[in-house]
Amino acid sequence: MASLDRSALDRVVVFTNRKGGVAKTALATNLAWNAATEDADPLKVLLVDLDSQATVSLEMGCRSHPDLGYRAGQSWKAGEEFRNALETGGPLHPIPGIRPNIDLLTADPSWYHDRPTPGPGMDEWDMLAAPLSAIAGDYDLVVIDTNPGVWELNQMALGAARYVVFPFQTDGSSLEGVPYTYGDILWAQERNPALEMLMFILVFVGEDHTRQHKEAFDTLRRIGVDDDLVSKRVVPYKKGAATYGRNRGMLPAEALAQDHGKPWYWYAKQGKEVPYRPGTKSVANLAEALGMIASEILFRINSREEQLRHDSEEASS
Ligand SMILES: Nc1ncnc2c1ncn2[C@@H]1O[C@H](COP(=O)(O)OP(=O)(O)OP(=O)(O)O)[C@@H](O)[C@H]1O
Ligand SMILES: [Mg+2]
Repeated sequence: MASLDRSALDRVVVFTNRKGGVAKTALATNLAWNAATEDADPLKVLLVDLDSQATVSLEMGCRSHPDLGYRAGQSWKAGEEFRNALETGGPLHPIPGIRPNIDLLTADPSWYHDRPTPGPGMDEWDMLAAPLSAIAGDYDLVVIDTNPGVWELNQMALGAARYVVFPFQTDGSSLEGVPYTYGDILWAQERNPALEMLMFILVFVGEDHTRQHKEAFDTLRRIGVDDDLVSKRVVPYKKGAATYGRNRGMLPAEALAQDHGKPWYWYAKQGKEVPYRPGTKSVANLAEALGMIASEILFRINSREEQLRHDSEEASS
């Protein structure tokens, strides 16, 4: 690790949790989208999907993209190229422009039992960091989505990242699992000292988020985490809105912008089946919540960078 030049990796964000199904993909894709579509100052974003189920390409509706080379249930062309780069140290060739300002690197289903393995002399923690450091400078932000199913993929994500976002649910077993994932992060910091906790976030929360925040604070305090690291925002529980977008390869903000069709009674009068559409309000609420969370992540990164600049100016004066 010591020999790797990490300067280009200073804006790499990873979403991680040992527990699955905690909105990592929803948060990662919406961070990328919101950063890339900022009106005033759009960022150039690289999305890295290190989930062997490769949900990012589904969520973003790009399974039919010719460069992805999607083959149901099998390895994909883009996955094979990505694997080859990880195993040999590069070069990486992201699929360009899956959205304006967003490029994609993706795993594929074959990685679940046939994991990429480091070539001779390569360190497993560096497998992504090494080739990524060569191209990360082309981007303003790199967003890594992970999945707990394959530890090796989490390991290379934590080995490459600068900032960790840790989404979790607040039921008893989820809270009990929080120290384990936090332990993984502390362990990774020994191999990648640049890795820093950026934010914890509560997900799939209903109305009673004050009580749930309190329980989360209690759990996190016990493992030495400062309250400031916990976002006051939450990912609201909006199953219909989330499913509506994912099934159509659209993020909530994109689904919101789409025509919602005619009112239900028009279909009834025509004797047609009424297409299912969740209330515009719940899609809007979800899109807004995810947009605010993306802004908070970018704000936290900017604040940290400002603090580091300030510290180095102080040190040199
Ligand atoms: N705000 C939401 N409210 C309710 N359900 C949601 C919400 N966002 C996403 N979901 C649903 O919850 C499930 C998990 O979401 P998501 O895939 O983003 O989590 P994940 O952490 O990436 O999961 P995995 O560990 O499998 O990669 C999906 O079925 C998704 O449709
Ligand atoms: Mg996922």
